[in-house]
Amino acid sequence: MTFHDLLRLRIDVFVVEQECAYAELDGRDTEPDTRHIWLDGTSGPMAYLRVLVEPGGASRIGRVATLAAARGNGLAGVLLDHVHATTPDPLVMDAQTYLVPWYTSMGYQRSGPEFIEDGIAHVPMTREPTGD
Ligand SMILES: CC(C)(COP(=O)(O)OP(=O)(O)OC[C@H]1O[C@@H](n2cnc3c(N)ncnc32)[C@H](O)[C@@H]1OP(=O)(O)O)[C@@H](O)C(=O)NCCC(=O)NCCS
Repeated sequence: MTFHDLLRLRIDVFVVEQECAYAELDGRDTEPDTRHIWLDGTSGPMAYLRVLVEPGGASRIGRVATLAAARGNGLAGVLLDHVHATTPDPLVMDAQTYLVPWYTSMGYQRSGPEFIEDGIAHVPMTREPTGD
């Protein structure tokens, strides 16, 4: 059931809410190094993200999502803090552009120009390990 509930959260947010038809199941969820990180509430997962290991050794954050009804409580920030505390590698992500100020406040920096993927504006960002 956990897999179902996490995937439902991802699809509810990225496919349904953001009205985006894309390959939500991209084949990377089952890679041996992939980490799935989430917070549970009484009715199941409320916030989720995944961390992929890239060929060059960086870790890639993606699928950052909080249930619409649970937003505004900093849950996604808790998940990201956990990643920062447990990941010795540089972190990379393709941030949705509207969230660049938020990610910047957590130590991410732009690493390239904005691009459009599946109709949504993104900015590549990186965060070097801080040693914390
Ligand atoms: C982005 C998201 C994961 C944040 O989750 P959350 O647990 O609700 O976290 P918060 O509500 O505390 O928001 C965190 C920060 O995101 C930013 N943010 C959230 N919604 C925003 C919006 N509509 N416009 C601009 N910034 C926004 C704010 O900086 C906010 O911090 P602040 O409230 O201290 O200013 C959640 O809004 C979500 O699931 N959005 C849809 C999916 C998505 O865009 N995912 C990110 C892909 S890169």
